[in-house]
Amino acid sequence: MRWFAAAAISVSAILFAQLPDVKIPRPAPEQPLPFSHKTHAGINKTACAHCHPVPDPGDFATIPKTQVCMGCHQAVKKDSPHIQKLAGFHAEAKKIPWAPVYRVPDWVSFSHKKHLGVEGVKCATCHGEVATYDVLRREKDISMAGCMDCHRAKGASNECLLCHDQR
Ligand code: HEC
Ligand code: HEC
Ligand code: HEC
Ligand code: HEC
Ligand code: HEC
Repeated sequence: MRWFAAAAISVSAILFAQLPDVKIPRPAPEQPLPFSHKTHAGINKTACAHCHPVPDPGDFATIPKTQVCMGCHQAVKKDSPHIQKLAGFHAEAKKIPWAPVYRVPDWVSFSHKKHLGVEGVKCATCHGEVATYDVLRREKDISMAGCMDCHRAKGASNECLLCHDQR
């Protein structure tokens, strides 16, 4: 991790003089299908965990495979062109090329599981009221400053190596 230490030293001066300008909310990225959380998680009340189960070790919440979608869309709205497109991805065993909304760089450690164990922390804390939106955009701050604000507020460590370790 020598490169990181070097990068940290050279960048941290700038960083602490003025944290990068993080524009929140970001515009919603274009998605390959008009998937709506409002329809699925809101109106139909499908649990977040049905599609985002946070499997062990718990770093990722994960994006559902087409198989999960086809559990319903084998039958539901199968005549819709969007559902036919979905069925096409499934038939060809292709991943749907969803545009990411929330991501941190690979060299940042983040665990969903550890955070979901913190009292009062829910999906909405870091992602907003997802079940009320047709389209997701990044509206919560997951920049370094955003992470550190909550760590400070909750008394968690803000040591550099907590989030920038050698994993
Ligand atoms: C029926 C399946 C389904 C359910 C239920 C569901 N999601 Fe999703 N979720 C998806 C799909 C598909 C995407 C990728 C498309 C998108 O971003 O809208 C996604 C994307 C996301 C993202 C952005 C992921 C990224 O790439 O940055 C977040 C955050 C999220 N969901 C949170 C939730 C929460 C919180 C709930 C419960 C309130 C929930 N989802 C319920 C299928 C689902
Ligand atoms: C403490 C803040 C926090 C909480 C709480 C949280 N997330 Fe996330 N979420 C993030 C961050 C940060 C990322 C980017 C992670 C990455 O790039 O590795 C992310 C990424 C995601 C993604 C896309 C990438 C992945 O991890 O597979 C989905 C889907 C998602 N979150 C869903 C959820 C759901 C569902 C919940 C509640 C069960 C939830 N999140 C709770 C901060 C949070
Ligand atoms: C638990 C059942 C269920 C699951 C799982 C599910 N859906 Fe749906 N989906 C529905 C229902 C119900 C509707 C609303 C149908 C209507 O408008 O009558 C819908 C609507 C849609 C629509 C809008 C179709 C249109 O033309 O109006 C799209 C696109 C869609 N779903 C994509 C997905 C994707 C992608 C997944 C997997 C990530 C998924 N769905 C998983 C039940 C489900
Ligand atoms: C909503 C508040 C909150 C946000 C936002 C948040 N954290 Fe945390 N985080 C905590 C708390 C509280 C702990 C201590 C948990 C414990 O000790 O069980 C923690 C612990 C951690 C840990 C140590 C986990 C372990 O393995 O023991 C890491 C790494 C971490 N956070 C990284 C991040 C990163 C990276 C972000 C931003 C992308 C972030 N956190 C955003 C509250 C938050
Ligand atoms: C609570 C988690 C957390 C802690 C503690 C933390 N960082 Fe970060 N750091 C992040 C995240 C998340 C990013 C990536 C932000 C993004 O997506 O642009 C980041 C990015 C960086 C970058 C790249 C900056 C850029 O603009 O891309 C440097 C350099 C850095 N951190 C140095 C440090 C130093 C030095 C410390 C200790 C003083 C530290 N970090 C402590 C979470 C953390």
